[in-house]
Amino acid sequence: MSLRSTDAADPADPADPATPSLAASAAYIRSLRKPTAAQVLDEAKASGRPAVQPRCGVGGHAEMKRLLHELERGAEPDLLTLTIDSHTRLKRFDRAQRLLRSNPAELNGYPLVAHGWRRGRDVNESVAVPLEIRHGSPDARRLFAVAIASGITSFEGGGVSYNLPYSKSVPLAESLEAWAEVDRSCGELADLGVIVDRELFGTLTAVLVPPSVSLAVSLLEGILAAAEGVRCLSISYPQGGHLEQDIAALRAIPELASRYLPAGVAVHAVLHEFMGVFPRDRVHAEDLILYGALVARLGGASKVVTKTYQEAVGIPDAQANVAGLRLAARAKSPILGLVRVDEARVGQELGWILGEVASIVEPLLAAPRLAPAIVGAFAQGLLDIPFSASRYARSEVIPARDHEGAIRYLSPGGLPLTAADIERHRELVARRDRPGALSTSLFERLTEDINYFPGIFGEAAPPPGKAP
Ligand code: 5AD
Repeated sequence: MSLRSTDAADPADPADPATPSLAASAAYIRSLRKPTAAQVLDEAKASGRPAVQPRCGVGGHAEMKRLLHELERGAEPDLLTLTIDSHTRLKRFDRAQRLLRSNPAELNGYPLVAHGWRRGRDVNESVAVPLEIRHGSPDARRLFAVAIASGITSFEGGGVSYNLPYSKSVPLAESLEAWAEVDRSCGELADLGVIVDRELFGTLTAVLVPPSVSLAVSLLEGILAAAEGVRCLSISYPQGGHLEQDIAALRAIPELASRYLPAGVAVHAVLHEFMGVFPRDRVHAEDLILYGALVARLGGASKVVTKTYQEAVGIPDAQANVAGLRLAARAKSPILGLVRVDEARVGQELGWILGEVASIVEPLLAAPRLAPAIVGAFAQGLLDIPFSASRYARSEVIPARDHEGAIRYLSPGGLPLTAADIERHRELVARRDRPGALSTSLFERLTEDINYFPGIFGEAAPPPGKAP
């Protein structure tokens, strides 16, 4: 499938005129009187205050515009989002189209492909700040084409990170090839003077992801993307909850970029505020939101993607989203510039993370072609993520929190960590075990670790059946 369907009308939506060429879209984007996402991120990075961004998406067009206006007016975020609905993510454009006509409120995001690029431009032009597309598609070529024609300059996802957490049976080789096509288009757009920010979804399955797994996957996707011509990469990392470990993981991102990525590529660290089980009490949730935003700042992140006090119950309404953004922005306060952390501990965690990422990625970088090496490594377990939905990853990595709450490897599965690394993780996890608690089953341990934040606040564990 070509991204530049310049002459044929869009078959799924005959009402939508043919998608403009990349050159025409680039000219349109240059003519827009708004900054690109890449420009906003550069400014935030230089200021030392992370840009704030919500997740937000509803089915109807007028409703989407209204939501964005409410967020813009209420919280003045630095970037806004179109969160895309599940049907569009899975290329069920017709289903999205039918629901849009019959009951748009049933869509769990904005079906951009069904709406078409003209409405995409209308949404984009209705707000002053740049938009990002957040979704979860293993094959996002069509969505990307419509996004670019809409003038949207930031696009989340990657061939590994938008496949393994979401899809059971999409071969990695297929998703990597689809994303290579997206990244090639970003290269062409860069040549046409438009830099598209490509955010890599380091959050993965969002459950107890060890930092070196998240960063290794994002780094590999970033190396592939840069080779296709991408010039702006946002490497997102999911807040795990341990102060020094999270700060170290964010600070590892520029280090990894200087070691492994070409010099001409702008690289941004992004913190996704805690993606696991959130406390239900509003005050507790807000404490965690502010803590996350402060971690983002201390870690030197260019951006923080915010949560809301409604996280424990589902998709937030506009009011909760506004409150979450305003609260996260409080971490920009000059007074919080006075907060200091234990730099020696951060440095220790940073050294561990950089060493582990090197052990995981360097054998792959020595292979003649990276994408097939990644596919092979996942098949063998040499690359792996915990709790994958996909049959194309082994999910043999078992994470656990240590005595301080940092996320370690209870078992690294087949990851090629050094013996010293494996021993350190074993020792740190063992420190948590109280005498007599050795009989704790793996299930109990994981449940406790997954419910870490509700536990810290003394909230009872959520009822069974609630997905993490
Ligand atoms: N609007 C706002 N947030 C959303 N999320 C998913 N879909 C939407 C949407 N349409 C959020 C969830 C969770 C994260 C995975 O994304 O609430 O925080």
